[in-house]
Amino acid sequence: MEFTSMAKTKTAFFCRSCGYESPKWVGKCPGCESWNSFAEEIKPTQQVQVWKRSHAKTVQARTLSEIETENQIRLELPDAELNLVLGGGLVPGAVILLGGEPGIGKSTLLLQMALTLKANTLYISGEESETQIKMRAERLGELDSSCRVLTETMLENILKWVDPEPPEVLIIDSIQTLYSDALEATPGSISQIRECTGRLLQYAKETGIPVFLVGHITKDGSIAGPKILEHMVDTVLQFEGDRHHNYRILRTLKNRFGSTHELGIYEMSGQGLRGVKNPSEIWLSQREEKLSGVGIAAVLEGIRPLLLETQALVSSAVYGTPQRSATGFDLRRLNMLLAVLEKRCGFRLGAQDVFVNLAGGLRLEDPAIDLALMAAIMSSYHSEPIPAGCVFSAEIGLSGEVRAVQRVEQRIVEAEKLGFTDIIISKYNKYQADPKWGIKVHSFGRVDEVFSWLFA
Ligand code: TYD
Ligand code: MG
Repeated sequence: MEFTSMAKTKTAFFCRSCGYESPKWVGKCPGCESWNSFAEEIKPTQQVQVWKRSHAKTVQARTLSEIETENQIRLELPDAELNLVLGGGLVPGAVILLGGEPGIGKSTLLLQMALTLKANTLYISGEESETQIKMRAERLGELDSSCRVLTETMLENILKWVDPEPPEVLIIDSIQTLYSDALEATPGSISQIRECTGRLLQYAKETGIPVFLVGHITKDGSIAGPKILEHMVDTVLQFEGDRHHNYRILRTLKNRFGSTHELGIYEMSGQGLRGVKNPSEIWLSQREEKLSGVGIAAVLEGIRPLLLETQALVSSAVYGTPQRSATGFDLRRLNMLLAVLEKRCGFRLGAQDVFVNLAGGLRLEDPAIDLALMAAIMSSYHSEPIPAGCVFSAEIGLSGEVRAVQRVEQRIVEAEKLGFTDIIISKYNKYQADPKWGIKVHSFGRVDEVFSWLFA
């Protein structure tokens, strides 16, 4: 008998969000209900699945008391911000995904870590040549380090390479450039990303070597590739910031070994990234004279308190429809605040253009910024500066009430530390006053009361 092997490549459709497989294209994923997430790809062959099964280790179930935890000693990183964000150092066998837009500094951050770490690190790049990496290292000024670099994109080669000489930390830049020889799909496709991450995860867990993966971010802000990539790894970090500003924020989106409230702040300099110890100083512009339309907010970013300058400009609309524009702030929220001013405080802003701006290119989620921004708008409207030394920290409700914010003591302490003399908060905020505080705390229940006190 004769067999003719007809090598026919089979394709299937995969959901980019959850990895759901379907023989035909569907608009709405039956797995995760996301729309337009299906893309056609070459199907992994049966062989691969068999390979996986045969490589599965035989393990035994154990009681919790039998499991040792002593190998959970964390490797402390020289980069204090990264250490903080990871929840206090690097856990053995952890797989960490670092996401961020192109050019934000992901490669710089990891190369800098690799070069300064007193450990045997291996930096594998599929994006840059060895010369480019060396040039970057020269910029960072760390040439005599034990970090090794390798340019390789085939997973099997990488695993072969690390086998005889295992590094203490492995860095892969980036997961989208990696491919496994076992699959026919192109690098960066859903099945490749899933396969490569799965094998690296297995490698990390078996050897206890921590692995960093760089992941690109798509236009809509999610990490390119399937959402399951985020589910597979232990920690997801996101590097963000405005490319036109020097400040970068490293956020924890997921962490199996620590809190997700941590936040690292960096400044991109000519010699790499520098951790910022006192973030408030960045977002407050230094100026002598008092200007109208400026309000300082005491906000929390993650768990870190920081003071941020909000700016507003209110001017008579020249053309029929007044303009509302917001940089670094949600436009809908601005419209809501303006409606509150109009309805609850009786200000006629209907014929005024309103522009607001948050300094430093920061994207904030803390609603405690509301009152400062509203005060800045009022200050610009009256052309009267807000008294020097005043900070605000409260959310505004639809009926014009001044609402309480979380962890107000931390904000008060931060404002006091930076030399502010007065902080305006909600009267519903409970806090433990410290007799040592030199800052005066003013509590209000309604916005109109705040404004009559401010602009009396
Ligand atoms: P990079 O790490 O290549 O970004 P990513 O890997 O996220 O795509 O960052 C590159 C940018 O950082 C580039 O615009 C140059 C800038 N940069 C500095 O400003 N200072 C430095 O010391 C380095 C190494 C890069
Ligand atoms: Mg890069």
